[in-house]
Amino acid sequence: MSVTIHLIAAARPNFMKVAPLYHALKATDWAEPVLVHTGQHYDRNMSDAIFEDLRIPAPDFHLGVGSGSHAEQTGNVMIAYEKICLEHRPDWIVVVGDVNSTAACAMVGAKLWIPVIHLEAGLRSGDRSMPEEINRLVTDAIADVLWTPSKDADENLAAEGVSSDKIDLIGNIMIDSFVMLKDKIEASNAREELGLTSGEYALVTLHRPSNVDSHDSLQPIVDALAKASNSLPVVFVAHPRTIKNLAAFGLKDSFEQSPGVTLLEPLPYVQFMSIVTGARMVITDSGGLQEETTYLDIPCLTLRENTERPVTVTQGTNKLVRADTLAENIAQALAGDWPKGVCPPLWDGQTAQRAVKCLLTREHDRS
Ligand code: UD1
Repeated sequence: MSVTIHLIAAARPNFMKVAPLYHALKATDWAEPVLVHTGQHYDRNMSDAIFEDLRIPAPDFHLGVGSGSHAEQTGNVMIAYEKICLEHRPDWIVVVGDVNSTAACAMVGAKLWIPVIHLEAGLRSGDRSMPEEINRLVTDAIADVLWTPSKDADENLAAEGVSSDKIDLIGNIMIDSFVMLKDKIEASNAREELGLTSGEYALVTLHRPSNVDSHDSLQPIVDALAKASNSLPVVFVAHPRTIKNLAAFGLKDSFEQSPGVTLLEPLPYVQFMSIVTGARMVITDSGGLQEETTYLDIPCLTLRENTERPVTVTQGTNKLVRADTLAENIAQALAGDWPKGVCPPLWDGQTAQRAVKCLLTREHDRS
């Protein structure tokens, strides 16, 4: 038996979810994983360098869609991926996460009657002003199989009327990537190279349009970080759109000149995770970092009004914070006044193995 499975990778947070599944499928004698990169992220450190760190080969298909408006990006992925599917019809398509390419490829598969699996299904922020929430709703509504990371995701799907036989609770696959590369991350000298001392700096990442796309939202955050840098060095590993906007809003020069601030371009996975693991706290609007900090028991200050990953708040080390009280929250975390977390069930590095087992069962049921 040879079962062809397209794994769709598009943007940075997808790669850590696709890699463990690629390796686990490749190790079987029945599955042929095929990597499809839509090209949504294309800068070296947003894409190729992460592939290398995660030990996955160059994609079998690269759609090269690049950036654009939401409609352009989604449409261009659909047009390009439909051609691939018509020529090289897979047995299954696995889409991951909640980016535009996730929903686009799910729609292509559904319309060509190719079974679609959504990995990281069922997450809901309840906030439809975020493009990711629309992508999650669309993808989960049309996927044939829903692989969920935690019980709350199963409950969300049940509340939307999804039949339980479509759902497999498999756990958090991103943690598999961390476990796979833990030794390399621990051996990395990324912190030393930046002159950082473990436990004595804050790591910052921000890229959500609601935080970084207007001067009025970005300035108070930058001010609070500059203030905090007087008591704790601040390492800001910034997404390309954030760097561009800091410059466009005239905030970049003064921020970079704040004595405790280091502003960096995106980093590959191992270097970045080395900096995460040594951080005293993480300030972010990323989805993945909310989870990684819960797993690592590091205080996480999430600059968002809501989260689709509530277990990181109820069980983990995450708190939702606002720009106008960020400085106080940083002081609070620095004083140790922060929730201690427990690691949610099935965030154990074995998620890809469970996914492969579930897929084999479903393949048998299908044929
Ligand atoms: C996308 C996802 C978001 C995810 C994030 C992780 C959607 C709707 N958004 O947001 O959910 O959290 O990835 O990073 O799918 N750019 C570059 N180089 C790149 C990629 C992007 O410079 O390699 C710049 C371009 O100016 C581009 C902008 O970043 O227009 C936004 O990129 P895009 O892929 O549209 O969204 P992200 O903000 O990266």
